[in-house]
Amino acid sequence: MTSTVLKEKILGLFEGMRGKSLITTQDWSLDELIATLELAEDMQKYRFTDKYAYILKDRSFMMFFYNPSVRTRQSFEVAATELGGHALFLEPKSMRLKTAKTAGETVEDAAKVMSRYACGIGIRILEDKVSCYGQGEELLREYAKWSEVPIVSMAHDTFHPCQGLADVMGYRKHIGKNLKGKKLLQVWGHGALCRSWCSVQESLLIGSRFGMDVTVASPPGYDLDPKVIEMTKKNCSLNGSKFEISHDPVECYDDADIVYSRNWMSPNAYRDGEYHKQEEIEKAMKHTDWICDAQKMKHTNNAVFIHPMPIDRGNEVTDEVASGKRSIIYDVAEDRLHVQKAVMALTMSKFFADNR
Ligand code: CP
Repeated sequence: MTSTVLKEKILGLFEGMRGKSLITTQDWSLDELIATLELAEDMQKYRFTDKYAYILKDRSFMMFFYNPSVRTRQSFEVAATELGGHALFLEPKSMRLKTAKTAGETVEDAAKVMSRYACGIGIRILEDKVSCYGQGEELLREYAKWSEVPIVSMAHDTFHPCQGLADVMGYRKHIGKNLKGKKLLQVWGHGALCRSWCSVQESLLIGSRFGMDVTVASPPGYDLDPKVIEMTKKNCSLNGSKFEISHDPVECYDDADIVYSRNWMSPNAYRDGEYHKQEEIEKAMKHTDWICDAQKMKHTNNAVFIHPMPIDRGNEVTDEVASGKRSIIYDVAEDRLHVQKAVMALTMSKFFADNR
């Protein structure tokens, strides 16, 4: 696509995307997702040139982290810099927010005030900072209700949209732009990190939106959110693609084009308003046959290996696969930067409007 055509296409969508929050890719149309990926690909091509260097000139993006991060914090901070703007790092301890246990500022007041300073607000709140599944999603939607600027999930207990976009950017580079009918294997890995459902659920949704056949494989007892599974099935059905659930740690690899291994917690992780991390780790570590290794990868259609990172090497996946020739983990980590720049440009900038 030429730069002029790309710009026209983005201009056409721009009015509809400016001010839009990103809490899950399922909230965006397929056209919006494709426009974001095409812009991200162009931004990668023209990185370190003037082409997109002033899109967020003099603007600031707030990054509000309840949990730590390597990729997300660094890539958003670099994204703001490369677009000519600035990113601020905030933690709950740097604010005085109302919680179930303490008096403080309401989300309504915080969101309205932050909107007066920032062009967008990113929020990360993961499994161990909520007392039941879905509370993180509620918090993001509450911010989106009151904020006058876009709210972007930087990973919350339910979804991780920027990771999902980066995953697909990686697939498009390595296996081609037509993903229809490609088999995405979303396979559980045993491990000691006790992960939330956000990355895998986002992957199921965006993979199925792009027409991929989806297989979710895990030991019995590791079901994901039934509403997300229903949405994934519906996406598959609309695209004429297949959806399968497997409990076989070897057969599930048959003919896969993409192997995405990742540990995730069981639905029993929350009880009595508490997150039982140690119990989940002990249970997960017993399933030693659930590791992605070179022998299992032989059953695939020369699949690429992907993981959103950080990886629990030796548990979720062997070093041989994670660092092997078909691993695209570092490309996808880099793609976080490009897709986030595109999301920020499309939803937070006046650049395209000013350059008509
Ligand atoms: N994939 C991802 O979100 O990585 P971080 O937790 O390091 O940000």
